[in-house]
Amino acid sequence: MNIAVFASHGGSDLQAIIDACKSGRLDAKVSVVISNNSKSMALKRAETSGIPAFHFSQKVIEDPQILEEAILKTLIDHNTQIIFLAGYLKKLGSSILKTYKNRVFNIHPSLLPKYGGKGMYGINVHEAVIKAGDTETGITIHRVDDCYDTGEIIAQKKVPVLAGDTAEILAARVLAQEHIFIVEVLSETIPGII
Ligand code: GRF
Repeated sequence: MNIAVFASHGGSDLQAIIDACKSGRLDAKVSVVISNNSKSMALKRAETSGIPAFHFSQKVIEDPQILEEAILKTLIDHNTQIIFLAGYLKKLGSSILKTYKNRVFNIHPSLLPKYGGKGMYGINVHEAVIKAGDTETGITIHRVDDCYDTGEIIAQKKVPVLAGDTAEILAARVLAQEHIFIVEVLSETIPGII
């Protein structure tokens, strides 16, 4: 399974996928990494592992249509079979979603449909969970459609919220679980549903 991973910032989920592929826990290959952020750690992580990595944004290609075509061509050129959005903050263009219909997945750090949608990313999600007084939160892996965080849910994992948690402490606990869960779902669930 050739996976194209999209990421905007830290890329620790990407690293979990790369490590699992290397160790053989995941029978797959990260064939290409794409980021909208030239300074993303994700691009550096890919380069360190010898994985082709590309920065695509409107800073590089101004015309959105040409930008989308360039991303799609890169995906096809690298024999992409599935797309995994691991902390990617942009929407994918409709031609990409159409070409990879049902084969685009996203990981989100909450139990969707709670705490999803526009603006619900990064620390904002965990702040909202703490503010609401929830005693559990979690992780969702879902298919991607043309809205934020609304596609079909593939798998969820619960993570406890503990007394005294700050949003930062909770974010770290959830992210550590993501690194395990992302590999489990990629190896056990996704091959059976694509
Ligand atoms: C993760 O929390 C993921 O659920 C969300 O973005 C974050 C990415 O973290 N979509 P990292 O960049 O992989 O460290």
